[in-house]
Amino acid sequence: MSGHGTPIPMTSTPCGPLSGVAEVPGDKSISHRSLILGAMAVGETRITGLLEGEDVLDTAKAMRAFGAEVTKHDDGSWSVHGVGVGGFAEPENVIDCGNSGTGVRLIMGAMASCPITATFTGDASLNGRPMARVTDPLALFGTQTVGRKGGRLPMTIVGAADPVPVRYVVPVPSAQVKSAVLLAGLNAPGKTVVIEQEATRDHSERMLAGFGAEITTEETDEGRVITLTGRPELKPLVIAVPRDPSSAAFPVCAALLAPGSDVLVPGIGLNPTRAGLFTTLREMGADLTYENEREEGGEPVADLRARYSPNMQGIEVPPERAASMIDEYPVLSVVAANATGTTMMAGVKELRVKESDRIDAMARGLRANGVTVDEGDDWWSVTGLGIGKVPGGGTCESFLDHRIAMSFMVLGMGAKTPVSVDDGGPIATSFPIFEPLMAGLGANVTRE
Ligand code: S3P
Repeated sequence: MSGHGTPIPMTSTPCGPLSGVAEVPGDKSISHRSLILGAMAVGETRITGLLEGEDVLDTAKAMRAFGAEVTKHDDGSWSVHGVGVGGFAEPENVIDCGNSGTGVRLIMGAMASCPITATFTGDASLNGRPMARVTDPLALFGTQTVGRKGGRLPMTIVGAADPVPVRYVVPVPSAQVKSAVLLAGLNAPGKTVVIEQEATRDHSERMLAGFGAEITTEETDEGRVITLTGRPELKPLVIAVPRDPSSAAFPVCAALLAPGSDVLVPGIGLNPTRAGLFTTLREMGADLTYENEREEGGEPVADLRARYSPNMQGIEVPPERAASMIDEYPVLSVVAANATGTTMMAGVKELRVKESDRIDAMARGLRANGVTVDEGDDWWSVTGLGIGKVPGGGTCESFLDHRIAMSFMVLGMGAKTPVSVDDGGPIATSFPIFEPLMAGLGANVTRE
């Protein structure tokens, strides 16, 4: 868990060429789902490439608390002996999901239609985030919830003893909400229908099908209609988790900004519901290519090659692309500061309820380093200074948010003077090898 330890101040110093191969860790979204669905299957699910960040390790602990056997093996692979749909045991203690919104929301969904009670908590960031977006639809199954004011953790969920299937139109573009409803629907008899107006990451749908659930997706005038038949017997899977595009974003963007760089980031999941950043960077004029495109474990994968890109231009990022790059706007804003012209990012209200208010966090830190940022409720824009022209020299707050901390470290790599963050500790939630990996490419990120 992050947010409980002593802050770790970090500084990133402007660097020369970054070069080499950046093997980023496994996908966080797929890692959480591998453990949770593995725990709901009957038999042994085997996982390679699992992200061993704090967020996912908290989910592994939670699955043990609900009765699954979760083991890490000497060869680095993991196995999960599942208890079957509806088979969760009642945890003896409070479930601490640390910093992880994905962990807590998906697990709440998975237990919501089981006749058990569980209490959830997290760190200061997670305990400030809205949970009603998940508990509202879960109530339709017959689940009861008692939480703090504004639907905040700590929160106790009393699972429905006699769940009914639901039909739910997701009111915000959120894969966590969609997935929580689908996971709850697994233990409800009949068909649970989830409708999303904007397509969000579809790992849950793909993986549910892989585990043997009956699930269909239809594009209609109403949106994407996902229909899941409840009470399947989920069969265990062998899962190779692809590397995380959201983590790849950091070495990729750093390579675009540090003079002379040429970095290969192999084996990156390029599911279209996740790859919006790379499309955007290419539109801005980034020298970013996809090599060796292939399919692995049902997900499109490629090796990304990023080279120094001194002539990037600001663009208007299409709002309809937001869901496919929602976690990447912080690091995109760093690239935007190094482009010429203004980059406009609209339709991004969801950024205000992530691990931090990411528009506010980035705006403050960018301004502290000499970059002009304008913002409204659901948009923000960054005025580019041109490559290598960001003054730097500022200290930024990371607000318990891994992606904010890493984005400012990338800012320092291409600035005129070093950039610092007050606390890089949260980086361990999603990218525990960030510092050695960046050092291996030639970056200078140091702890004070
Ligand atoms: C995730 C969904 C997104 C994303 C998060 C991971 C998931 O959150 O920001 O990092 O794995 O389902 P929202 O559902 O809040 O958009």
